[in-house]
Amino acid sequence: AQVIKTGVLGESFIEMNTRQRCKFLLDEGSFREVLGCEAHTISPWLMPQGVVPQTDDGCVVAKGTINGRNSVVVGIEGIFQGGSMGEISGVKMAAALDLALRDNQNGIDTQVVLLLETGGVRLQEANLGLAAIADIHSSIIALREYVPVIGVVAGAVGCFGGMSIAAALCSTLIVTKEARLGLNGPAVIEQEAGIEEYDSRNRPFIWSFTGGEQRFKTGLVDFFAEDDADQIRSMVVEQINAGKPASIRCENVDHYLSILNQVDTSVQATSEMVRADFAKGASHE
Ligand code: COA
Repeated sequence: AQVIKTGVLGESFIEMNTRQRCKFLLDEGSFREVLGCEAHTISPWLMPQGVVPQTDDGCVVAKGTINGRNSVVVGIEGIFQGGSMGEISGVKMAAALDLALRDNQNGIDTQVVLLLETGGVRLQEANLGLAAIADIHSSIIALREYVPVIGVVAGAVGCFGGMSIAAALCSTLIVTKEARLGLNGPAVIEQEAGIEEYDSRNRPFIWSFTGGEQRFKTGLVDFFAEDDADQIRSMVVEQINAGKPASIRCENVDHYLSILNQVDTSVQATSEMVRADFAKGASHE
């Protein structure tokens, strides 16, 4: 029987920190943190660069049940260093995914949810973060054979860099209007392409390209949620119950390449143009 979680209707998911988000998604009383703050999983690379570290390195690995199913929820804390992935936080996520994979391979059903609020590779840790993200990518692909890997980008950071690729690799991706999803962060694009093309301080402009609604309307994510914790949890439960999707968005490589090949890069894109280009393939437009 489906466990209906009681909560205040309309409770904001975005305003919760990552630990609270993990706890909320898991069945009441089932939350158990692995390598929490008491384990002092501190990055050794931040102090020498004058950055105050955090005892969980901004990554929460939570085990428990969702709707009675054995689950692991891994959340990145966007408030700490922009949710960037360092050696420790990256390895925590990668190892959690590998253990979930091993459990599923051994017939122990383990559902997987990723809460992604991240600026990608932590610039202060460079290649170490990159290596962990590569491990995360391959673990997601391996896990997809067993269970739906459910990604949630709720906001307030969004999901960028190598972790946007992790988001794209998820079997199912849920976003809100407040979320952003993009390979390069706005300031990076502005630096490379010039402020005339991309003004990183123009927030409506940024959201019109990388915001959750645009990503949903262009078919690059699967589900669009309000900033309502109960709604997001219901969507996660529904996806767990639905099991592995028949087809996975990121496997439609030819389809996306054909859209990209038609883009006229000689004219400045608008969000409407992008929607029109992608509308042909968006199943929910
Ligand atoms: N590594 C280290 N620190 C990062 C980071 C990263 N990848 N991404 C964000 N941060 C830090 C910022 O330096 C800032 O730190 P500060 O508060 O000490 O100044 C903090 O996180 C918040 O970022 P800020 O840019 O102020 O917030 P924002 O909401 O305007 O934008 C991002 C958030 C993620 C969109 C923006 O920081 C960004 O574009 N980051 C780079 C993303 C990217 O291209 N990554 C590629 C790496 S693979």
